[in-house]
Amino acid sequence: MSAKSVILFGASGTIGQSVARELVERGYETTCVIRAGGRDVFPGARVERMRDLDSNSVRGLFLGKNYDAVISCIASRTGVHEDAWKVDAIFNQNIIAAAQTAGVRHAVLLSAICVQKPKLAFQTAKLAAEATFRESGLTWTIIRPTAFFKSLSGQAQRVKRGKPFLLFGDGELTRCKPISDGDLARFIVSALSDPAKHNCVLPIGGPGPAISPKAQGELLFELLGKEPRFRHVPVKWMDRAIAALDLLGKLSKHAAAKAEYARIGRYYATESMLVWDKEREVYDADATPEFGEDTLRDHYAKLLRAQ
Ligand SMILES: NC(=O)c1ccc[n+]([C@@H]2O[C@H](COP(=O)([O-])OP(=O)(O)OC[C@H]3O[C@@H](n4cnc5c(N)ncnc54)[C@H](OP(=O)(O)O)[C@@H]3O)[C@@H](O)[C@H]2O)c1
Repeated sequence: MSAKSVILFGASGTIGQSVARELVERGYETTCVIRAGGRDVFPGARVERMRDLDSNSVRGLFLGKNYDAVISCIASRTGVHEDAWKVDAIFNQNIIAAAQTAGVRHAVLLSAICVQKPKLAFQTAKLAAEATFRESGLTWTIIRPTAFFKSLSGQAQRVKRGKPFLLFGDGELTRCKPISDGDLARFIVSALSDPAKHNCVLPIGGPGPAISPKAQGELLFELLGKEPRFRHVPVKWMDRAIAALDLLGKLSKHAAAKAEYARIGRYYATESMLVWDKEREVYDADATPEFGEDTLRDHYAKLLRAQ
């Protein structure tokens, strides 16, 4: 039997908000969990405000309720070690423990495709969350999306202002199949009623083809009717910054956090958000599933019109 009543964690996040909308539109009885003080923007959904997602508080959310499914879109907003472990690993463990006790049948986790090649603190925390879902005894679905549109939109404004598009190396070091918030939300919610999406890890991208940072820049210039202009940043500059911040990080927590941000930046500058073929040790665009209809071109066009 497909889920009717769903509790959603991380409902105030970028993808969480779209998932909340999709659940309500699809007729699910939807409960959105948000932090105390967070904005209530979920027409048609019930809202639970939480000060903390410790195990007791989370258990309390399920008491006397009959949720069929839980969806977790929570994620550390910083990605640094302590916060990532608390939010991605521990909070998700608390959610699963409460769901088990309450007899919830299906648990869906929004993860990330980058965990297939873990090098960062938050990726280790996400893998711990994935293990909790897989070993929960509930029906589980783990969704590993490629890059979101928002992650590829940071330079739209500077390009519109006439500045060059910044590229690491030659701008062809990585590729991804970007997916819109709406398409990803539709994919996540479809897992509730589609047995083919049960008990599996699902990498997912938007409509292809895979696109490099250079091609993203060219797209922005084309939409603005300008000649493409690029500034190239050597990856080794990031390596030097990371080494310096790691040294300072031995003395200061602030510098240690900056070193982790720089490592995160370097990871995305050098690793593709596509399925990793372990045997051949290459990213495989063809093996990266596609879903949805929203294109990065249309998103950029809308963004440039609005700015
Ligand atoms: N960006 C990308 O391109 C990309 C690609 C693939 C996968 N992903 C993954 O997709 C996931 C969701 O991304 P997103 O952009 O939707 O994330 P987001 O906008 O940062 O949302 C994170 C959610 O987690 C909640 N949260 C964070 N810390 C919390 C805490 N201490 N207590 C309670 N709630 C907390 C936030 O609540 P508040 O609103 O109250 O802070 C928010 O609802 C992440 O795991 C990310 O790694 C991202």
